[in-house]
Parts: sequence; structure tokens; C-alpha cells
Amino acid sequence: MPKPKYHIVVCTNSRPPGHPKPSCGSAGSASLLMAFNIGLMQKGVTPGDVLVSGASCLGPCEQGPTVVVYPDATWYSKVTEADVAIIIDEHIQGGKPVAKLNPDSVWK
Ligand code: FES
Repeated sequence: MPKPKYHIVVCTNSRPPGHPKPSCGSAGSASLLMAFNIGLMQKGVTPGDVLVSGASCLGPCEQGPTVVVYPDATWYSKVTEADVAIIIDEHIQGGKPVAKLNPDSVWK
């Protein structure tokens, strides 16, 4: 099996009702993960070239849903399903982080 060119990590962490911290899971990240898988398939990305994984908490919960794209470790915050096609087009297929989504702003 060849090494994937990109790895998209989607935080799918959920917390119990009443927990004081927000979570990406409660912000719809499970649907987001599926949207990445469907979007990659619809755009004809070769299976195995891009790996999509769910993850537990990645840290910036208040800015979720959080998505990180490797190997360049680009962090996207407050990702919506509408952003998925843009990330696939510009980052995964175009090779450049999506400037209009303000990548890595969570760390600035
Ligand atoms: S719950 Fe997603 S970053 Fe913490």
C-alpha cells in the first residue's frame, strides 16, 4: 500500500450533555468527516492517495469543528460542509492551503 499524499484529520470528539467545554462532535463534525469522504470520491481522488480519519479532541474546541491537513499540518477552524469542496479543490488537489478559510489562525 503506497503512503497517502494527504491525511485529513477531523476532530469528532463529543462530550456529555452539560459539559462546560464545547465539542466538534456537537458542532456536526461526523457529517463533516462523511462530507470529506464523499467529496473526495465525487472529485475522483484516487482511493489511498488521501486518508480521512476521525480523531479525539485536537485542542482548540471553541474554534471547532477542527480539521488538520497533513503533511503540511494546516489547521482549519469552524469548518462547515460548504468548506469541504473548497479544501478538496484548493488544498488537496491544488496543493495550497485555502487562504480565505484563514488557516492556522487558531494558533495566532
Ligand atoms: S473537541 Fe474538537 S478540538 Fe476539542
